[in-house]
Amino acid sequence: MSTYLQANNTQIWANGRHLVECVKVIAETHDVTTFCFSSTTPVMHFFKPGQFVTFELEIDQQPVMRSYTISSSPSVPYSFSVTIKRVPGGQVSNWLHDNLKQGDELAVHGPTGLFNCIDITADKVLLLAGGVGITPLMSMTRWWFDTNADVDINFIHCTRTPKDIIFDRELSFMDSRISNFNLSIICERYDIGDSWSGFTGFVDQNKLAIIAPDFMERTIFCCGPTPFMNAIKNLLTRLGFDMNNYHEESFGAPPESAQQDAIQQAETAAEEVIDESSLFQVEFSESDKKVKIKPDETLHTAASKVGLRIPKGCGIGICGTCKVRVTEGDVTMSHNGGITDEDVADGYVLSCCCVPKSNVKIEY
Ligand code: FES
Repeated sequence: MSTYLQANNTQIWANGRHLVECVKVIAETHDVTTFCFSSTTPVMHFFKPGQFVTFELEIDQQPVMRSYTISSSPSVPYSFSVTIKRVPGGQVSNWLHDNLKQGDELAVHGPTGLFNCIDITADKVLLLAGGVGITPLMSMTRWWFDTNADVDINFIHCTRTPKDIIFDRELSFMDSRISNFNLSIICERYDIGDSWSGFTGFVDQNKLAIIAPDFMERTIFCCGPTPFMNAIKNLLTRLGFDMNNYHEESFGAPPESAQQDAIQQAETAAEEVIDESSLFQVEFSESDKKVKIKPDETLHTAASKVGLRIPKGCGIGICGTCKVRVTEGDVTMSHNGGITDEDVADGYVLSCCCVPKSNVKIEY
């Protein structure tokens, strides 16, 4: 093996915390922007197309973690990108649009996520993208295109208006180059002055029959706003589609909601009469702090109670941000793919979704 390849192979991105630099900012539409990143040291950004990273930011002097799907493909591994839509009231996405610029450095956690085309394989796929939910599906499509994969791709991109079509020219380019790619765009409506002669409205039985008459034989990847995904699921269920072949990207409760839940739990707990004998002690060995918590309280909650701030992103076991190592005691963890089997074998757990089954010691 050449020295060059050895060098590359020893510097491969793995799930964890990485310092990256924003190397390019690209306006995709009037309210969608792609931010491209490279690591501050040379790294090959391999990941599974469809996975996401979690940004560690500081907004108004407050630490904020937020997860975004990677829109680029690992077939172009020296850089990776996320594509973000500006949303009314969206604290983090709007901050990124207004502040993040070329040359800025920040920390990201990941990559991680089960919604990807490496763990879920198929020869014939139907990709259903609602708005900026196109990002993981774009990553998969770029990967299949770049690697000349023998995958029959039917891609439906649903947007509000023609002005909101993301990656329009790149998708059309791919559509023009390979026969195993079929692109359809459905605009909810078009405004005066818009030039549009394609599908309008929403995905329904008639449009599916025209665009993907063989959809029953395809594996479906769907990503978009929750109402969009719910409408798709209802339609497919009604049409008798085997939902084992349906996969969707679901980030669950946003961190703000998770935080609200935690506050609510803390307030409820304050009013409860606690049976001391049912509590487990959680000790943080590096910080020399310990606290007793109830069996249904998470290790992350235990840390908060003694003033320790374990980084947290999704709060539901997806992003892997809150990973800590348990050195003594038993725990129960119910995660959503945010940790690898190797990490679990090494004693790591996701503190946001892990509760004690005995007194435990944490390396933190
Ligand atoms: S915060 Fe995302 S896995 Fe715990």
